[in-house]
Amino acid sequence: MTAHAEALRERIAGELVAARARTSGLTDCLDDAELVRQHSPLMSPLVWDLAHIANQEEMWLLRAVGGREPMHPEIDTLYDAFEHPRSARPTLPLLPPADARRYASEVRGRVLDLLDTTPLTDSRLVTGGFAFGMIAQHEQQHDETMLITHQLRRGGQALSAPPPGPAADALSLPPEVLVAGGPFTMGTSSEPWALDNERPAHPVDVAPFFLDTTPVTNAAYAAFIAAGGYEEQRWWSQAGWEHRQQASLSAPLFWRREGGQWMRTRFGIVEPVPSAEPVMHVCWYEADAYARWAGRRLPTEAEWEKAARFDPATGLSRRYPWGDGEPDHHHANLGQRHLQPAPAGSYPAGAAPSGARQLIGEVWEWTASDFLPYPGFAAWPYREYSEVFFGSQYKVLRGGSFAVSAVACRGTFRNWDYPVRRQIFAGFRTARDAETDRSNRADRSNRRDAGL
Ligand code: AVJ
Ligand code: FE
Repeated sequence: MTAHAEALRERIAGELVAARARTSGLTDCLDDAELVRQHSPLMSPLVWDLAHIANQEEMWLLRAVGGREPMHPEIDTLYDAFEHPRSARPTLPLLPPADARRYASEVRGRVLDLLDTTPLTDSRLVTGGFAFGMIAQHEQQHDETMLITHQLRRGGQALSAPPPGPAADALSLPPEVLVAGGPFTMGTSSEPWALDNERPAHPVDVAPFFLDTTPVTNAAYAAFIAAGGYEEQRWWSQAGWEHRQQASLSAPLFWRREGGQWMRTRFGIVEPVPSAEPVMHVCWYEADAYARWAGRRLPTEAEWEKAARFDPATGLSRRYPWGDGEPDHHHANLGQRHLQPAPAGSYPAGAAPSGARQLIGEVWEWTASDFLPYPGFAAWPYREYSEVFFGSQYKVLRGGSFAVSAVACRGTFRNWDYPVRRQIFAGFRTARDAETDRSNRADRSNRRDAGL
């Protein structure tokens, strides 16, 4: 075996082991009753995620790649996300926690054996380790989903992690950065573990625009609330206003007003809302209303990706804002290393050429764009990963959150959700056209009046 193939195998094994460590950390801290309980109708019981992770791994690696027979064919339907909506999952005859854990570890043992014996060149499915990378990403995506379940869970603290440090130079940062107009390469045809919806690479022409240097902070969002943002219909789209009325929205999910102060619940702790931290747990409609109030708008998905990837010095698109090198602790807040976003202005080493910061990690960022296929899209390896979700019912989120692992997050990665979704770790940043610089000045007085 060549050194290159050996290094790839080691990387795959490392990612699989890291994902399982995260999964175990999220499930070993709760007793069986908590694992089988449905903490919110929006989420599966954690024990469903656990066995679903194992079932997908068995289907794609042991069966599709390895040609093995199903281990427990009768359980496949229980863990098919399309057969049973999340709200129906607690009533299914799911594997109890001990059986789910045993199933996951048996699958994993066989997968690591398979990895040792499969040439990673045999078929398109394994070239570059794709199927293994897809499964490592899948587990990490469910680890973020499970962290959302933890956030929705009532009761005391079950998880802990050190807080992120203070931002080095937040106050000296310009509030927005200019991204020059012109074409750039969006998406990828070369990233080996990129999923089908990130493909293929294609040119997109983007008009010049300004983008917030950092995600919108809690302080800025609190100013929108204090200015009556939730009471004034003019800042909201029609669908947004209807939803705001019907759902009685008045602040981000998990916020509560107490003694003249905003407090929030975070993984079982009640604490003052940190002003410098990126706002999260707002839906697309709230992000859109804030942006209008600020005299701005949400960036399109193409604008976001150009700000994150385009290097004017070479004319090429980078894998990450800082370059092509893998993320490390200096670049971004990822992987549940901290259980909250870091203050706006952190991670100078992770800045994009445009000067924008924290595009990767912290909070998923809502964009103005619907989730649609790129020109030349081809579903791979299954239609249910992306293709069945394309359409105007979903909005695209970019950049990843503190809760997602680096393996499931890159400059091209696309996430999507309904515009009413608030339990996800999502915030946003705002943009404005550079060409209409002058006419926007007056509208921006709201932000200026609020001292932002
Ligand atoms: C890409 C986060 C929208 O959780 O529904 C997990 C990822 N796909 N299992 C989701 C996914 C299949 C997906 N998102
Ligand atoms: Fe899944």
